[in-house]
Amino acid sequence: MLFFLDTANLDEIRTADGWGILDGVTTNPSHVAKENMPFLDLVREICRIMGDRPVSAEVIGTDRDTIVAEARKLVRVARNVVVKVPCIKEGIRAISILSKEGVRVNCTLNFSAVQALMAAKAGATYISPFVGRLDQIGHEGMLLVREIRQIYDNYGFPTQIICSAVRHPEHVRQAALAGAHVTTMRFNIMEMLFQHPMTDAGLKQFLDDWNTIPENLRKF
Ligand code: E4P
Repeated sequence: MLFFLDTANLDEIRTADGWGILDGVTTNPSHVAKENMPFLDLVREICRIMGDRPVSAEVIGTDRDTIVAEARKLVRVARNVVVKVPCIKEGIRAISILSKEGVRVNCTLNFSAVQALMAAKAGATYISPFVGRLDQIGHEGMLLVREIRQIYDNYGFPTQIICSAVRHPEHVRQAALAGAHVTTMRFNIMEMLFQHPMTDAGLKQFLDDWNTIPENLRKF
């Protein structure tokens, strides 16, 4: 399963990139609003840091023609731009045009399996079910990921599932078990994946024991 970082913050991206496990970045207008940088410059810089790895940047338009026009501008920023398009009727109409032009689209704000089916039929490269937001209204978000996976497998759709809006490492584990191709997560969640108190305690014990060995016997 690929790991994408869900942010538009350059420091977070550089730091997570240093961890050696970063496969892509997803941004959204809320993330961009925190960065105080011209939008296209910000996207360009994120794309530069990420090299060939995909960077999702979202359109603002809500009608087909505006979405298509914004998407065409976004893909000119860098080769690794993926255009994020909302899972609405006008978005699906736009995806069917953009996919025929070879534009990679991440269909975002996905909350139902039939929306995901339509996105795949329109040719989306990625679908982003927002599991944490469904959990927050009392639905099992991960069930949506499992259903999409089954539907895509039933018909051989190549659209990749990005498990999105994850709230804790347990979501990441469940996404991997459900066969999501990607999980996108905020910086603090990705950092949590490294942590286990038993690993820390076990390491401390090993190092304490190591230090009881006479110095002349513990050379590498
Ligand atoms: C996905 O691409 C979205 O940017 C993101 O996961 C939204 O999640 P949130 O509910 O944490 O804002």
